[in-house]
Amino acid sequence: MKLFVDTANVDDIREAESLGVICGVTTNPSLIAKEGRVFEEVVKEITEIVDGPISAEVISLEADKMVEEAIPLSKIHKNIVIKLPMCAEGLKACKRLTEMGIKTNVTLIFSAAQAILAANAGATYVSPFLGRLDDIGMTGMDLIEEIADIFSVQGIKTEIIAASIRNPIHVVDAARAGCDIATVPMGVIRQMIKHPLTDNGIERFLKDWETVPNK
Ligand code: E4P
Repeated sequence: MKLFVDTANVDDIREAESLGVICGVTTNPSLIAKEGRVFEEVVKEITEIVDGPISAEVISLEADKMVEEAIPLSKIHKNIVIKLPMCAEGLKACKRLTEMGIKTNVTLIFSAAQAILAANAGATYVSPFLGRLDDIGMTGMDLIEEIADIFSVQGIKTEIIAASIRNPIHVVDAARAGCDIATVPMGVIRQMIKHPLTDNGIERFLKDWETVPNK
C-alpha cells in the first residue's frame, strides 16, 4: 500500500518527503484554509517538493464551474489530481475531466454505492473517509473493506485512498483490507515511526557498544 501525506503544510510535506515513505499529497479546502496562503501558490510549491499525485479540490457545486476551476489547476503541474466532491454534479465533472485526460479524486465517499458511481464516472481515485464514520459511531473500516472487496471482485481500476485517517491502526487495517493508498496526516506518520521497544533497543545497543574494546 502506498502512502500519501494529507496536509497543505509545506514544512510537514518536506518532512514526509525527506523520510522517503510518501509518494503523493492530498489537500482539501479546510487544510488549505489553515495555511492562510494563496491556494494556487501552495499547490505549486507542493508540486516542487513531491513528484507524485497532488490532489487539489474544487469548491464549485455545479459541474460546468467545477470543470472551469479544474482546468487552470490541472495546468499548474502534470501531477495535479482534481479532487471533486461526491455529488451528482461532481460525477458529471468527473466524467468530463476524465474524457479530457485529467486525473480525478472523488472525495467524501461514505458508501460503497457512491464508490461504484465514482468508478463508473472514470475516477482515478476514490477517497472513503474512515475517521469521520468512526466519529459518528460507525465502523469506517467496514466501508473500506466493502469497497476493496467490490473493486477486487469487479476488476475496477479506480484506486482506493483510505482517507480521514486518525491513527496508525487505521493505516495498518487499510493495508490489510487491500487499499491502494492511505493518505496520512504527518502526526500519524510520526506515530507510525515510534515504538518504545525500538527506542529501548537502540539505547541498549549503543550502551553495549561502549564496552567493545579497540573500536
Ligand atoms: C482526504 O483527502 C481528506 O483531506 C482528509 O483525509 C480528511 O480528513 P479529516 O476527516 O481528518 O478532515
